Amino acid sequence: MFPLSTRTSLRTRHDPEALAPILAAPDLKLALIAAVASNGVIGRANALPWHLSDDLKRFRSLTTGHATIMGRKTWESLGRALPRRQNIVVTRQNGYVADGAIVAASFDDALQRVALPPPTFCIGGAELFAVALPRADLMYLTEIDLRVSGDTFFPAFDRGDWRESAREARRAPPPDAFEYAFVTYRCRSC
Ligand SMILES: NC(=O)c1ccc[n+]([C@@H]2O[C@H](COP(=O)([O-])OP(=O)(O)OC[C@H]3O[C@@H](n4cnc5c(N)ncnc54)[C@H](OP(=O)(O)O)[C@@H]3O)[C@@H](O)[C@H]2O)c1
Repeated sequence: MFPLSTRTSLRTRHDPEALAPILAAPDLKLALIAAVASNGVIGRANALPWHLSDDLKRFRSLTTGHATIMGRKTWESLGRALPRRQNIVVTRQNGYVADGAIVAASFDDALQRVALPPPTFCIGGAELFAVALPRADLMYLTEIDLRVSGDTFFPAFDRGDWRESAREARRAPPPDAFEYAFVTYRCRSC
């Protein structure tokens, strides 16, 4: 189990290495969280192609108090560490500095550095989702019923490997008024 309290996690913003050393967790659960258009797009020009405040609220609510693992490009698109979460940035660059985050050399290295209770969230982008997907127990997807242009896509996955355990249909406020759904998938073999 994790000996750190949520209160301790507040330190990550100021002193991320304070959460080291490695705390191995045999019951570590890995969740992917993403907003995905109907054509698979998740990003455009290193940003989200839409603004959906309910989705941002859900993201904050689900991830607060947990570790978030992200690719270097997603980190740079955020522009700052996510508060009240452990931020772990994955990069192949030696000496990369990410203020308020732990820097990891690989996805495995990132998992080893997790120091907050499960689930651990992989928050993107496409490269990180592709690495994390085969290891994930859970996916929290916001499925956006729109085809949008973009340059970054959620990785293809076999729907037979996943069981939909929750779905909440919603509609974006006018003038956009597109439909979307908060969907939870659980890995069938986990
Ligand atoms: N819709 C959503 O839910 C969502 C969520 C997150 C992000 N996004 C979007 O996705 C886009 C960014 O995604 P992306 O795929 O271009 O980039 P990314 O996955 O965020 O970051 C890619 C970078 O991460 C590092 N990296 C990736 N795999 C690695 C590995 N196995 N080992 C070590 N380092 C590794 C590399 O950094 P170095 O080049 O520094 O080595 C790589 O260039 C943006 O448009 C963003 O807005 C969307």
